[in-house]
Amino acid sequence: MNNITFQAPRILEIGGGAVARTPALLARLGLKTPLIVTDPFMVSSGLIERLTAPLRDAGIAFDIVSETIPEPTDTVVAAGIRQIQPHHDCLLAFGGGSPIDTAKAMAILAAGGPDAKMRDYKVPASADFAALPLIAIPTTAGTGSEATRFTIITDTEHDEKMLIAGLGALPLAAIVDYELTFSVPPRITADTGVDSFTHALEAFVSRRATSFSDALAISAMRLIGANLRLAYHEPNNAEARKNMMLGATQAGMAFCNASVALVHGMSRPIGAHFHVPHGLSNAMLLPAVTRFSLNAALPRYAEAARLAGFAAEGDADQLAGAKLVNGLDDLNAELGVPSPEKFGIAAAAWHGKKDLMAEQALASGSPANNPRIPSRDEIVALYESLYA
Ligand SMILES: NC(=O)c1ccc[n+]([C@@H]2O[C@H](COP(=O)([O-])OP(=O)(O)OC[C@H]3O[C@@H](n4cnc5c(N)ncnc54)[C@H](O)[C@@H]3O)[C@@H](O)[C@H]2O)c1
Ligand SMILES: [Fe+2]
Repeated sequence: MNNITFQAPRILEIGGGAVARTPALLARLGLKTPLIVTDPFMVSSGLIERLTAPLRDAGIAFDIVSETIPEPTDTVVAAGIRQIQPHHDCLLAFGGGSPIDTAKAMAILAAGGPDAKMRDYKVPASADFAALPLIAIPTTAGTGSEATRFTIITDTEHDEKMLIAGLGALPLAAIVDYELTFSVPPRITADTGVDSFTHALEAFVSRRATSFSDALAISAMRLIGANLRLAYHEPNNAEARKNMMLGATQAGMAFCNASVALVHGMSRPIGAHFHVPHGLSNAMLLPAVTRFSLNAALPRYAEAARLAGFAAEGDADQLAGAKLVNGLDDLNAELGVPSPEKFGIAAAAWHGKKDLMAEQALASGSPANNPRIPSRDEIVALYESLYA
């Protein structure tokens, strides 16, 4: 067996209502004065009260920074670190992947001294140090960011969604409470759920997969395959929400250690140039990239199809693989995933960026983990095919 390195948060508190256990978790970790990093909607909707009420009841003083944006940028991170005061001993990230990634990047940048720039940390650099420990509380199911050693930050000068990886981005602990996700609207349930599924599938077919990442990816594909549509159509279905949250965190733990592959590599440039939400750009790419990659890892894709319910247990690999790519197309139709054109991106703008997007996709390193490693021209052709 090959050597395996496995990285994960020190503690996961999991279950309905787990957010109320935050004061006890802080006490166990010896932390007393958190800076909460969240987004404006969490504050205006009152969802943040699920966290702040138990903190207040426990007599824990906290501050809040809520000026974060979806798909965070280097400028938002730089503004965020100005809110960190000497008395803060940890960051408590509360929200979707965006506030969690913002908090991770704040902790990394703050450790770098006054001249540090976010782009100093993009891969292949290793971002191993954080100024403060981070506890992540996701409210979407989800990016899995609560359990990963990644943060994704847009470089505003170069329109590039940078992948930043290292121990500095790995939360010390996470609180995984599906009851925080009932209010997620169907569009975001779909986008974040497809993101989770893509994490699990890409971890499973990745060239860097191990027996440990496989175990988590397999469980995640089962959970997400059986519950994504249900959570989308029935937002108050507790069982579906619970299983999606468990699947999202397990998928995060899987790809934290096996990495993602071509879908994510190609997805980030679409997000950076056209402001397509992360899960949605993954969904746009997933059927085409799976079709492209299928025969390079047919037994794995076929197994994924069976686990997620796209194929029957008895289906042979070839049939199961075909059912997977067709099933992913059908899933996109059911979840109302638009093409880049329907999303409102002009043809000239799309085709004008495809070469640059291909270069940025390759530079992120993710395509090299794909079962079929694409050439630059093949990536360009895949982008072209999305706008056919
Ligand atoms: N670090 C990682 O490992 C990793 C992995 C995948 C994606 N990401 C990043 O995560 C970001 C996307 O995160 P996301 O998809 O969770 O979305 P998000 O955090 O951008 O949130 C999307 C929208 O959903 C709203 N929302 C969040 N929780 C809600 C709730 N419980 N009820 C109602 N509305 C809610 C937010 O206010 C926001 O308007 C991207 O920047 C992406 O690049 C990071
Ligand atoms: Fe993702």
